[in-house]
Amino acid sequence: MIISELKLINFRNYDTLKIEFHPEMNIFVGENAKGKTNIIEAIYICAIGKSFRTLKDKEMIKEDKEESYIKIEILRKDKEVIIEIVLGEKKRIKINKRKVTKKGDFLGNLNVVIFAPEDLRIIKDGPTERRKFIDNEISQIYPRYYHILKQYYKILQQRNKAIKKNIKKRENIEMWDEQLLNSGSLLIAYRKKFLKKLNVITNPIHRKITEEKEKLEIIYKSSVVHEEKDETQEIYKKFKEQLKNTKEEEKKGFTVVGPHKDDLLFFINKKNVKKYGSQGQQRTTVLSLKLAEIRLIKEEIGEYPILLLDDVMSEIDRKRQKHLLENLEGIQTFITTTTENLNKIIERKKTFYLS
Ligand SMILES: Nc1ncnc2c1ncn2[C@@H]1O[C@H](COP(=O)(O)OP(=O)(O)O)[C@@H](O)[C@H]1O
Ligand SMILES: [Mg+2]
Repeated sequence: MIISELKLINFRNYDTLKIEFHPEMNIFVGENAKGKTNIIEAIYICAIGKSFRTLKDKEMIKEDKEESYIKIEILRKDKEVIIEIVLGEKKRIKINKRKVTKKGDFLGNLNVVIFAPEDLRIIKDGPTERRKFIDNEISQIYPRYYHILKQYYKILQQRNKAIKKNIKKRENIEMWDEQLLNSGSLLIAYRKKFLKKLNVITNPIHRKITEEKEKLEIIYKSSVVHEEKDETQEIYKKFKEQLKNTKEEEKKGFTVVGPHKDDLLFFINKKNVKKYGSQGQQRTTVLSLKLAEIRLIKEEIGEYPILLLDDVMSEIDRKRQKHLLENLEGIQTFITTTTENLNKIIERKKTFYLS
């Protein structure tokens, strides 16, 4: 898919902005704080529904203004899609002029893969960051997953409330179990299947980038199932058992097992990357992961997603830069950079100078 045009009104530092994009490479050159990432952010919101750097929509509205407007035109294999988003008291979204009220109905219209310095957090930070990563990725490929995810967290919240109130009265807690088990086991099954596919793609990419030196493996670490099992039925059974076994622990005041407790582990040559990986290995792991995501989205939806590279080119060495650029054919890419270096080596492109 290709983004042909972006329009912004009162978004971040922009009053009004209208840009037509190149179908392959788009490079934004400018010093710090000129509004490069702001453009990447506007594109990202149209895909995921929220920003990657703030939870508060208000922050994105131009200072002293009431609302922001973002419009994006997408050319897909078989259709054109226009997404319009108004950020204000409430977020309002239109797809091809029609109002969309549920986020699950909005996802999947624009697919993006982003690679930014903050992505190192997927490796370095706690499990929350990794769950966010996997949840976002699966949601944009299968919007149904997002519905189940929302549902699961709603039930979990109710169940936790019941635990806090009725530690002794189990029936008030257990009335939530069936729903929790149903949506929870679906989530785990989705995640396990997704990771299985992602692993198959990631490993050869990582081997190639590291000149056959490193084998990268991603493992789903579940609080519910420890085995290879990825069938919903099996997971359901295990989850039910675990829920029973953790009644005592629940006296802490919350549900202690379930997909909300799960994590991803990354291994290079059998060693945990979070614990033992060098900064360079951690960066390369994220790069391989992002490149794999692009391929996986193509396999699943039949089209390449958009690639957003925010400030990362200067952080990877020349060899990896070259590898990355050589593997982007057919993928519309948006790169931000503070120097002209890249601009010189990339041929077919459009360059935007922000000053
Ligand atoms: N809500 C806002 N209203 C007005 N300006 C904003 C707002 N949010 C951010 N900015 C401005 O945007 C600029 C930062 O843009 P950014 O895209 O992050 O820069 P960079 O080019 O370094 O990526 C800063 O000058 C900042 O003051
Ligand atoms: Mg920036």
